[in-house]
Amino acid sequence: MNRIIAPSLLSADFGNLQKDIEMINQSEADWLHLDVMDGVFVPNISFGFPVIKAVKEICTKKLDAHLMIVEPDKYVERFAEIGVYSLNVHYEACLHLHRTIQSIKKQGMKAAVTLNPHTPVSVLTDIVQDVDMVLLMSVNPGFGGQAFIENTYSKIADLKELIAKKGSNAIIQIDGGVNDKNARKLFEAGADSLVAGNYVFNSKDPLSTISDLKRI
Ligand code: DX5
Ligand code: ZN
Repeated sequence: MNRIIAPSLLSADFGNLQKDIEMINQSEADWLHLDVMDGVFVPNISFGFPVIKAVKEICTKKLDAHLMIVEPDKYVERFAEIGVYSLNVHYEACLHLHRTIQSIKKQGMKAAVTLNPHTPVSVLTDIVQDVDMVLLMSVNPGFGGQAFIENTYSKIADLKELIAKKGSNAIIQIDGGVNDKNARKLFEAGADSLVAGNYVFNSKDPLSTISDLKRI
C-alpha cells in the first residue's frame, strides 16, 4: 500500500500561504490536510470557507479536510462545492454518525471518521465498513506542535483487527506529533497515512522532509 503523506496547513505561514502551497505542489506530498476548528469542539479557531476556497484555487494536491467542529452535517455540501477530496468528522461530534457518513458519500467525497485519544476503537464496530478512512488522533485536537501519545500504537493494532474482522476497506491515518522518530514505527504498525504539521513546516527544508517521510 502506498504511504500517504498529508502535511497540515495549520503550521504553514498564514501571512504567505501561496508560497507554502506552491512548496506543497512541488513536493511529494499526496494530500494537503486542512484543520478546521470552531472554538467550540476544540479550544482554538483556525480557518473557514474563504481560506479553503483560496487554497483550492492554487493547490494541486487532494484536499483532506479534518473538521474539529460541532454539527459538521450542516456544512457537508459547502465542502463538496469547493471540491474537497475527503471529509473527516469526529465521532465525538456526531450524534447521527451513520447519516453524516452517508451524506458525505452522497456528495461525492471520501468519508472519514476521527477518534480522539481517549475514544476506544470499539465504538466504530458498526460504522467501520461504511467509511473510507479512520483517523486516530495521536494528540488532543486543537493545536499543532504537541507531543505524540504513545498509546496510539496499540490503537492502530485494535483498529487493524476491527477492519479485518468487518471486511472494511478503510485506511488508517494518524494525526499529531508525527516526526522522524515515530513515522517508520507508525507505518510498520499499520498506518497508511501520516499527517505532519510542525515537523514539515518548521523544518529547514520542508521539501526534503516530505520526501524523507515518504521513504522512511
Ligand atoms: C491538531 C490537528 C493536526 C495538527 C498536527 O488538532 O488535527 O492536524 O495540525 O500538527 P503537528 O504535526 O504539529 O502535531
Ligand atoms: Zn488534523
